[in-house]
Amino acid sequence: MYTFSTKIKDLEGSAIRAVLKMAQGKDLITFAGGLPALETLPVDFINKTIDKALTENPGLALQYGVTDGYGVLVERLQEKVKKMGMSLKDNGVMVTSGGQQVIDLVARSILNEGDVVLCELPTFIGGLNVFKSYNAKVIGVPLEQDGIDLEALEKQLKENKVKLLYTIPTFHNPMGTTMSELKRKAILALAHKYDFLIIEDNPYGELRFQGEDVPTMKSLDAEGRVIYAGSFSKILSPGLRVGFAVAPKPVLEKMVVAKQVIDVHTTMLSQIVAAEFLAWDGYDSHIKNCCDLYGKKARLMSECIDKFLPEYITHTNPDGGIFMWCDINKDVDTKELLAKAVDLKVAYIPGYTFMIDTDKPCNSFRLNYSMPTEEDIIEGIKILGEVF
Ligand SMILES: Cc1ncc(COP(=O)(O)O)c(C=O)c1O
Repeated sequence: MYTFSTKIKDLEGSAIRAVLKMAQGKDLITFAGGLPALETLPVDFINKTIDKALTENPGLALQYGVTDGYGVLVERLQEKVKKMGMSLKDNGVMVTSGGQQVIDLVARSILNEGDVVLCELPTFIGGLNVFKSYNAKVIGVPLEQDGIDLEALEKQLKENKVKLLYTIPTFHNPMGTTMSELKRKAILALAHKYDFLIIEDNPYGELRFQGEDVPTMKSLDAEGRVIYAGSFSKILSPGLRVGFAVAPKPVLEKMVVAKQVIDVHTTMLSQIVAAEFLAWDGYDSHIKNCCDLYGKKARLMSECIDKFLPEYITHTNPDGGIFMWCDINKDVDTKELLAKAVDLKVAYIPGYTFMIDTDKPCNSFRLNYSMPTEEDIIEGIKILGEVF
């Protein structure tokens, strides 16, 4: 009775959700999530801002808004991205319902069935599923500690007419790693040589707790090849669903039309909160508190892994963000080991969920350190030591 579209019929829901479901109600220590720590959500600030908006300007907060975004928020985002070195001469800014929607709007605007999209391996499943849902041909390029493997990238570029590259250069999900400036520039040069566009997905960029800033790819983009996806999810609240795009004006125009079709505009109340958040005098100290907390937890997790896990397990050392990636340098499948871990009351995300070929056994796994308490990090990694 129900015949589904070719866009959706072969799409599987995120395996991460399946893991979280398996963990539900089991009183587990979970390293599986991808949420900001509850204590970082600025509840009082949000409460006061919404109260004020509803009292002083209900017509703005509760009526329809324009598709490209609440004017005050757009202006403040323009200031913010200019400070980050992005030029607004040929680029524009629009508000979206989360960074996830930027990926969808770009795909909707530029991809035809069968177009080739390159993505990093491993990568964020939410991005991967967007490209699959538009029936793009998605090809993976391995990720190294300092970013995409350039040789493998150029090989794919020679063999395929690539339309789009999807990358998470800063505090990668799931790897936690950051692409070097050298590689960012090299990829932009390849984009010129082989004529493709780039989505720079950067929801974690402000959560740096150590090391030096690396310029965004968008700020290095002189040709209008990069579409930047930003998000308030990890610094303000994921539930408010506010993100933004910085894109070349002709691309942005099409994205705005595409957004009209999807959800008309992002919730006005959420946009007002985001706009006030950017102007909040507590903004800098709020971000610093988030970074301090995650830095402390990341260092603790790293110490615990070195202490409690066998030496054949290696891990990345993130300078920011909320994830760490571990490789078990043995012939094991972390998907199979997960059941044992859950029995012992710990959950992680097996690496296969971040791959294009999800049937292939994978000896890696992702750990999140923003959500668990420090006690849980110590206890949980000890238990993983037993599992492995
Ligand atoms: C790499 C990456 N991109 C995009 C998103 C989506 O974020 P948002 O909540 O802004 O839609 C996430 C969320 O976890 C992510 O990890």
